[in-house]
Parts: sequence; structure tokens; C-alpha cells
Amino acid sequence: MRIIKTTTSSLKHAQVVVCVGCCCGRVDRGRSEVPIDELKSLWKNFGLRKKVQLTVSGCLGPCDMHNVALLMSDRGQIWLGNLRERAEFEALAEWAHEVIQKGPEARLPNILEPHRFERWESNQSEHTLSEVPFANPFTTQPKMEGERC
Ligand code: FES
Repeated sequence: MRIIKTTTSSLKHAQVVVCVGCCCGRVDRGRSEVPIDELKSLWKNFGLRKKVQLTVSGCLGPCDMHNVALLMSDRGQIWLGNLRERAEFEALAEWAHEVIQKGPEARLPNILEPHRFERWESNQSEHTLSEVPFANPFTTQPKMEGERC
């Protein structure tokens, strides 16, 4: 097998993904606003753009935690939910700034700690992935025309 090494010219310290999908930021459904313009201004004014990617995303999956943000760095992922206050969104920029300044020693701002949640089911849970019935897509029969999924 030939191994191809891929590289990107867009290496960053970290990435902050803010969801504005079907459930996050939906003020029309009584939820809190996700202040995208303010976040973009913070990224610009504090010179974060070249080092920490700010991404505005569609649904990230855990809609019940509406107003979700995902922080990614070489230290892993931090999932945040139920973000409501301006100060909480501003703390995303604060984290980004700290990642640039301190790298692996960067800490999540205290105001964001209560918003952390686990996104992935642990291997220690009662139902491991190996117990879940799995249809191998390479061995199942193709659907017939007109057949429903
Ligand atoms: S809409 Fe934000 S997680 Fe689904």
C-alpha cells in the first residue's frame, strides 16, 4: 500500500466552531441569540483570525444542548452547550487568545466550565459499539428501485 502524506498550508493553533443550525441561536423559538457578528469582531479586533479558526456551522448534532460550541486544539475537543450570555460568547475569544499565548497550558475560562458536556459515548458504557447491530454497507443488498430507505 502506498502511503500519501497530506499537509495543509492552513495550520492553526485551534478552531472554535459555533453552531447556528436548526436549533441553536433560534430567537424565534425563544432561545438565546448566538452573536455571530460580535464574535467575528472579537476575532478581528484581537488578531485571532490567523491563529484560531472561527467557524460558523450548521447543526453539530447535540441540538438538545442548543447554542453549542466546539473548541478544538491539539489537546482535543471541548464541547459547550446552553450558551446564553454575551460574557460566555466573549469567553470563547478569551480561550482562543489563551491558546495562542499559552498553547497546551491554556485553560478554559471559568465562566465556560459549567457549559462543558460529553459528546461521545464512553467505551465503558453498558452498550458498546460492538454490541450495536451493524449493517455492513459492503455486504447488504442494494435497494431496489422505488424501495424506501
Ligand atoms: S442546531 Fe446546534 S447542535 Fe443542532
